Amino acid sequence: MAVSSAPGKVYLFGEHAVVYGEPAVPCAIEVRARVGVEKRADSKLRIHAEDLSLDGFTVEYGGTADGPPDVDVQESLLDAAMGYVDSAIEQVRDVTGEDQVGFDVTIESDIPLGAGLGSSAAVAVAAIDAGTRELGTTLETDELAERAYQTEYEVQGGQASRADTFCSATGGAVRVEGDDCRSLDAPDLPIVVGFDGGAGDTGKLVAGVRSLREEYEFAADTVESIGDIVRNGEQALAADDIEEIGRLMDFNHGLLSALGVSSRSLDSMVWAARNAGAHGAKLTGAGGGGCIVALDPTDETETALSYTPGCEDTFRAELAETGVERLE
Ligand code: PMV
Repeated sequence: MAVSSAPGKVYLFGEHAVVYGEPAVPCAIEVRARVGVEKRADSKLRIHAEDLSLDGFTVEYGGTADGPPDVDVQESLLDAAMGYVDSAIEQVRDVTGEDQVGFDVTIESDIPLGAGLGSSAAVAVAAIDAGTRELGTTLETDELAERAYQTEYEVQGGQASRADTFCSATGGAVRVEGDDCRSLDAPDLPIVVGFDGGAGDTGKLVAGVRSLREEYEFAADTVESIGDIVRNGEQALAADDIEEIGRLMDFNHGLLSALGVSSRSLDSMVWAARNAGAHGAKLTGAGGGGCIVALDPTDETETALSYTPGCEDTFRAELAETGVERLE
């Protein structure tokens, strides 16, 4: 059996706008998905996943290719999770040319599903890495990221950027603009995550922004302004200017809100963090529900979030310096 892990991520800046060619800066954090892949004697695919959990959010499913899993989670999220694994395994078969090979796949993840922390990208990266290594091929990071992107692209019906998968494969902070993906030097940021226990529907949220952008010129301008925030954000990161990074995150949240992808619980968590003295706070990922990211070196934001109605969990997240890790 080969086992790999890959980290989740927060967006410091630029989600949604990245879909329309603007740059984005996600940053890998130390919450991981671990995927074990073992070759079978037959050509079946058996997927077993457990502990897709974070305090306050537990998803357990033991799915097999033969029957529906028994879980207490939105069906659409589960279908999506299974879809990512299926599609990642197709990539493994494609890379290695072993198109009839079967696998037992075991997933253990600390990243909540669909909450803006990049769970699907982490699972895809770790599954492709472990699957190819199980068959004797070790992929370069760039190819691993590309293959994981293809997985997301397929499962999300063509609505995916390279941001999540590149960030999860390489670790650290990255900059993604269209096909151009590169690592960034970033200071060690005091990242605090707040989680409302829910999830957003990425496809629907992306489609909502798309139609606003088509209907109103000012919505298209808003998307472009997010691109400007990202470019300023890169400079602030390079200058290690945490106050400016925070200010730009606040602005970025406001524009995402204007584009209709925030929610009452995300807004309350963002305001709780700001009132507690965070340098800045914004939703991360597709929105609609899920997580916010705030910057605060003190305990104040975590304490405030733990008392905020609508916040189910809050934790400090270290930057993940490494992306994919080969465990076995
Ligand atoms: O919620 P997540 O982690 O899947 O992030 C979605 C980010 C979007 O920019 C909205 C879509 C994308 O593929 O970049």
